[in-house]
Amino acid sequence: MGAPEVSGWPTRIGVPDNLARMTAEAAMSEREPGDAPDDLMERIVNLCKRRGFIFPSAEIYGGFRSTYDYGPLGVNMLRNVKDAWWRSMVQMRDDVVGIDAAILSPSQIWEASGHLATFTDPLVDCRNCHERWRADKIAGTCPNCGSSDLTEPRAFHLMFKTHAGPVEEDSSVAYLRPETAQGMFVNFLNVLQTTRKKPPFGIAQVGKSFRNEITPQNFVFRTREFEQMEMEYFVPPTEGQKWFEYWTSERMRWYLDLGIPADRLRLRNHDLDELSHYSVATADVEFCFPWGWDELEGIANRTDYDLRAHAERSGEKLEYFDQATGQRYVPHVIEPSAGATRTMMAFLIAAYDEDEVSGERRTLLRLDPRLSPYQVAVLPLSKNDALEPLSREVLDLLRPLCVCDYDVTQSIGRRYRRQDEVGTPWCVTVDFDSVEDRAVTVRDRDTTTQIRLPIGDLVTEITGRLCR
Ligand code: GAP
Repeated sequence: MGAPEVSGWPTRIGVPDNLARMTAEAAMSEREPGDAPDDLMERIVNLCKRRGFIFPSAEIYGGFRSTYDYGPLGVNMLRNVKDAWWRSMVQMRDDVVGIDAAILSPSQIWEASGHLATFTDPLVDCRNCHERWRADKIAGTCPNCGSSDLTEPRAFHLMFKTHAGPVEEDSSVAYLRPETAQGMFVNFLNVLQTTRKKPPFGIAQVGKSFRNEITPQNFVFRTREFEQMEMEYFVPPTEGQKWFEYWTSERMRWYLDLGIPADRLRLRNHDLDELSHYSVATADVEFCFPWGWDELEGIANRTDYDLRAHAERSGEKLEYFDQATGQRYVPHVIEPSAGATRTMMAFLIAAYDEDEVSGERRTLLRLDPRLSPYQVAVLPLSKNDALEPLSREVLDLLRPLCVCDYDVTQSIGRRYRRQDEVGTPWCVTVDFDSVEDRAVTVRDRDTTTQIRLPIGDLVTEITGRLCR
């Protein structure tokens, strides 16, 4: 699919009309954090640990603050989030290509981008309990002890600095990237020359970024090591606003399509004093987290700031020459920038539910099947040897289609609950009749309804459900 038509859209700064309507509708029934159980985060953090989504890092050494490891289920789900993004931003379009740039980067990049000079947060100390805080997040009072006896804010630099090679000298200074975006700007010419793309076109990247956050918090919401999904969309200079609106709308749609309810999602335009040093307009996609509305993604109009800065610092001409018109120009850039790890957490929160089945409480994740760690669980009714060959045959049929779990332990009811709790949308049960009639039962996670169908129809059935 190419970029859809956008020329009929209004050109004012801010949220496009259809999205303004969408957010207004959401606002009428706008959720407040109080709608969720008080201990929702605790329940989710427990589930993540207990079922192998997310573990505290270096736990056997007492943990390493604000750093997390993704377990067998978490790594599946995080990959699904990133794949869903890549599919919609790269695979399904002909105007966006991908790259994977180095994490370790020389200081010239960050001098040019302005990060070395400006990428700081205001740090204050509480004189009473000696905790440290980001001044812009605490309204003048220490959240730990309530004291308002705080030091004056001072600029704290967020980039991780290291040295490349055996000698620690100025010329060997290197940084872990604090955003993936600069990889796209410094490769602008490489991509232009090798793909023969012309504006409007985008360069996308998914990967780790690092920030020495003063107050990492709320589980994987704000961590020092995290993953981003970013795209820099290069456009003719006069078309910045049009594409800013287009991408704002596209990105809202992505979250809704993957199951975030409309009343938990909103757009918020940045005030002028909030804008990053490179942006003239930014809209945040916000999600209603248990602690309140907070950012999932920022869509920024970065103008020609970065390409000009890198051209000046490197001496390379970072321009586009339009052979049709004979015009040479520095493209402007619209950047949708999302956090993969933060977004995964939002999907988990939105999907978390508890209900009652046959008089028994159950916990379930109502995840979109594209995001679930497993799409199918194959469950022999019992451990009896007679069921294993057919169960394995069913597993082998389904594995090329999607990620499958195979579970023979405990009662079938317990195993359904276990799959519900990790969001597996369908369980395929092989019973003793199956051996005779080559039919199996497919159970739906959300409704718990079951249908019986021939094994020969299973691939078509599951493919249909996956593509729905
Ligand atoms: N290139 C622009 C940029 O990096 P940002 O608003 O600083 O913009 C974009 O970051 C997204 O990256 C955020 O909306 C958030 O989802 C994610 N992100 C930023 N800092 C993070 C952190 N410390 N932990 C987890 N995710 C983070």
